[in-house]
Amino acid sequence: MTKEDLLLKNIQGNKPFPICFEDLEKAVAERLPAGPYGYIRSGAGGEQSLRNNRSAFAKYSIVPRFLTDVSEPDTSIELFGKTYPTPFLFAPVGMNQMVHELGELAVVRAAQRLGMPYIQSTVSSYSLEEVAETVPDHTKWFQLYWSTNEEIAYSMAARAESAGFEAIVLTVDTVMLGWREEDVRNQFSPLKLGLARGNYMNDPVFTASLKDDSLESYVEGILANIFHPTLNWENVRELKRRLHVPLLIKGILHPEDARLAIEAGVDGIIVSNHGGRQLDGVIGSLDALPAIVKAVDSRVPVLLDGGVYRGIDALKALALGANAVCIGRPFVYGLAYDGEDGVYQVMQNLYSEFKVSMGLSGQRTAAGLPAMTLIRE
Ligand SMILES: Cc1cc2nc3c(=O)[nH]c(=O)nc-3n(C[C@H](O)[C@H](O)[C@H](O)COP(=O)(O)O)c2cc1C
Repeated sequence: MTKEDLLLKNIQGNKPFPICFEDLEKAVAERLPAGPYGYIRSGAGGEQSLRNNRSAFAKYSIVPRFLTDVSEPDTSIELFGKTYPTPFLFAPVGMNQMVHELGELAVVRAAQRLGMPYIQSTVSSYSLEEVAETVPDHTKWFQLYWSTNEEIAYSMAARAESAGFEAIVLTVDTVMLGWREEDVRNQFSPLKLGLARGNYMNDPVFTASLKDDSLESYVEGILANIFHPTLNWENVRELKRRLHVPLLIKGILHPEDARLAIEAGVDGIIVSNHGGRQLDGVIGSLDALPAIVKAVDSRVPVLLDGGVYRGIDALKALALGANAVCIGRPFVYGLAYDGEDGVYQVMQNLYSEFKVSMGLSGQRTAAGLPAMTLIRE
């Protein structure tokens, strides 16, 4: 073994691991069947939105400061009165059993080891109660998809609250399924395979609406409820009235929608284009961020996801006013590559690069990053 090999293993733990997103994506492409891989990797339509997320980061360059004593970096952030050691959260990603048998349970164990809040998807393979039992003391938020039968949405939100989830994240950009060419090409529909059943199987309101407990009935029931084109601000207000924990809205791209969300009583905003999976031809999340930060004017936290594949991406997002970032595809690839340890390694690498980059740009605290100089080309 060469000296270089040893050094790599020291940095990354005991096993060699693809160091960057591109290497990891390539490695996972070789391990997963075309259906699941295409489902995770692809964006809607011609994938302009997916590309926009990445190219938005490349438009910004950091102008570093030096001689600032960066010996004791403080990467912590505060959200809803709690302090977290890093500005990274796990974005809600459905149906994790598509790539690993332990699915969300493996992911949330890694999240706990890292001290990063975990957002569980409505369409997870394991139920929110199973996740809560796995990591009862770790911070978990629940991502809610509205339901055609709104009583199902209220029921899931109430279950999440009683299982100890500390916030509800309502995703508003999925009122119908995006035009996903890769999945059509591969004839792949994980919803139809029943991989999204975790939270539906034991929901009393949902199960009462089924004609029997066959897989077909579950799938039919989920498909009948999961897309909900009637969603509107009154639904948001009513949900807010029923909740005892903070409500965030995920999928906001227009500053006017951010203003309306605050008017509707929302406690936080996640700027996101759903990883380019819904509407094609959409503004990249980072490009949408500054106007939303301005409109929100520090009244509620603003989080961002979409294309955060490197530590410096997180640095740029925080410099532009995001309070934290959510990671999606990178952790899913980590899960596919090496289960819980793979998730841990990916997120640890992102965090390590973030911390180094904070120091190298002369910044001592994550909270102070908005004062950093960025130029936009
Ligand atoms: C495979 C996959 C499944 C997803 N499932 C959900 C979901 O169930 N609910 C949701 O709100 N967002 C979902 N998202 C979107 C993510 O929360 C996040 O917005 C997106 O992954 C960010 O883009 P990035 O992964 O390229 O950074 C999913 C994304 C992927 C890649």
